[in-house]
Amino acid sequence: MSNDNSIKPWGGRFSEATDAFVERFTASVNFDQRLYHHDINGSIAHATMLAKVGVLTEAEREQIIEGLEAIRAEIVAGKFQWSVQLEDVHMNIESALTARIGITGKKLHTGRSRNDQVATDIRLYLRDEIDAVAKELTRLQQGLVELARTNASTIMPGFTHLQTAQPVTFGHHLLAWNEMLERDYQRLMDCRKRANQSPLGAAALAGTTYPIDRAYTAQLLGFEAPTENSLDSVSDRDFAIEFCAFASLLMTHLSRASEELVLWTSAQFNFINLPDRFCTGSSIMPQKKNPDVPELVRGKTGRVNGHLIALLTLMKSQPLAYNKDNQEDKEPLFDAIDTVKDCLRAFADMIPAIQPSKDVMYEAAKRGFSTATDLADYLVRKGVAFRDAHEIVGKSVAYGIDSGKDLSEMSLEELRQFSNTIEQDVFNVLTLEGSVAARNHIGGTAPAQVTAASERAAQKLSRR
Ligand code: ARG
Repeated sequence: MSNDNSIKPWGGRFSEATDAFVERFTASVNFDQRLYHHDINGSIAHATMLAKVGVLTEAEREQIIEGLEAIRAEIVAGKFQWSVQLEDVHMNIESALTARIGITGKKLHTGRSRNDQVATDIRLYLRDEIDAVAKELTRLQQGLVELARTNASTIMPGFTHLQTAQPVTFGHHLLAWNEMLERDYQRLMDCRKRANQSPLGAAALAGTTYPIDRAYTAQLLGFEAPTENSLDSVSDRDFAIEFCAFASLLMTHLSRASEELVLWTSAQFNFINLPDRFCTGSSIMPQKKNPDVPELVRGKTGRVNGHLIALLTLMKSQPLAYNKDNQEDKEPLFDAIDTVKDCLRAFADMIPAIQPSKDVMYEAAKRGFSTATDLADYLVRKGVAFRDAHEIVGKSVAYGIDSGKDLSEMSLEELRQFSNTIEQDVFNVLTLEGSVAARNHIGGTAPAQVTAASERAAQKLSRR
C-alpha cells in the first residue's frame, strides 16, 4: 500500500495518496511489462531525436541510452523490480532510469506523453509479432503444399452436405486449405502496413511545442512514416482490431481443418492416422486415442473471436482522444497473438506428419455413387439432354442401392436397362481415376492439375 504519491511522476498536483485498490485497479504493469523491449527502443529513438534537434545534449543522450540499456539487461535477467505503484511499464522504466542516472533521467519525457508512447510501443510490438506469426503461417503452408504434392493422385470422396458427392484427390482438398491460409497471409500483411506508422510525437493529443523531428524517430524505429493527425494517433487502435480480425478468420479456417481432421481420424472415417505424439489417451477407456490437438485448436477459436468483439466494443463510441479505456486493448491483443502462434505451431508440426490411409479413402469414394455425375455427363456427350440424363442416372442409382452395387460394378447389360445409349466405353468414366482425371482445368481436381497447382503454390511461398 502506498501512503505517498511522491514516487509517482504525476504526484505533484495530488494532496492524498491513491486508494490502494484504485492503484491496483488502474495499473497495467502486470500485463504491459511484456512491452519493455519496445518501450526502451522507443525511448532511445526519442532521446536520439531530442539530441539531434538540440533539446538534449549529446552527453545527456548517451547517459540516457546507457541507463536504458542497463535496465533492459536487468529486466532480461529477471532482476528488475516491477512496481504496481508505478502503474505501467512506461513509468516503471522511467523511474528506474531516474534512480539510476539522476536528473538527466527526468529529461527523457520532454516532448512526449505516455499516450503517444504506448501507441508507439504496441505498434512496434505488434509488428514483431506479425513477423513471427507470418513465419509460422508460412511453415504451415509449406507443409500443406508438400503433402498435397505427394498426394496429387490419392483419391478420396469429396463431400457436399457431408454426403459423398464426387471423387476428388486428397492433394486437392489440402490445397483448398492452403487457399484459405494464403488469404490470411495477405490480410496479415495488409494489417502490418497500417500498424507500421509512427504515432510518436503526437504527445498527449495535440502535438508538442518542442522542435521535434517526427520523420526522424519514425525512421529510427523502422516505421514507414509518421501518422498524420495527433488526435487520431493517440486514440487509434484499428491495428489491434485488424490483427484480431485476421486472427479470427485464421482460427475459423484452422477450426474447419481441425473438424475434418477429427472426422477423418474417427473409426467411422479412418481416412488418416495422426501419429501418437499429437494425440492423448483416455483415463477410463483404454482403447482411446483422441485427436486433442485439432480439438483444442477448434476450441481456441472461441477465445480469439471473443477478443475481436472485446476490442470492437472497447473502441465503440469512444470520444477523441486518449481515454483510459484504451489500456484494455492489451490483454485481448496479447492473448490473440499467443493463441494464434501456438495454434499455428501445432498445425505446422502436425500437418507433415499426417499419414493418409489411401485404400480406405479409395474404398469410401467408391461407395455413395460418387461417379453418378460422370455417367450423366457421359450421356450428355452422347446426345442425351442433361435433364433426361439426370433421370436415367437417378434410376441406375436406385437400382444400385437395391442390388448393393456401385455404378462401376454393374455390367453393361445392367446399365443398358436404363439407356441403350450406354456402351462399353462408359467404364472409362465410371472409374474413380477416370472421374478425377477428367476435371482437368485450372482449379480442378485432376492429378495433373493438383501437381501443377502445388508447384505454383510452393513457388509463391518461396518468394515470401
Ligand atoms: N498504461 C496506459 C495504457 O496502457 C498508458 C497510457 C496512460 N496515459 C494516461 N494518460 N493515463 O493505455
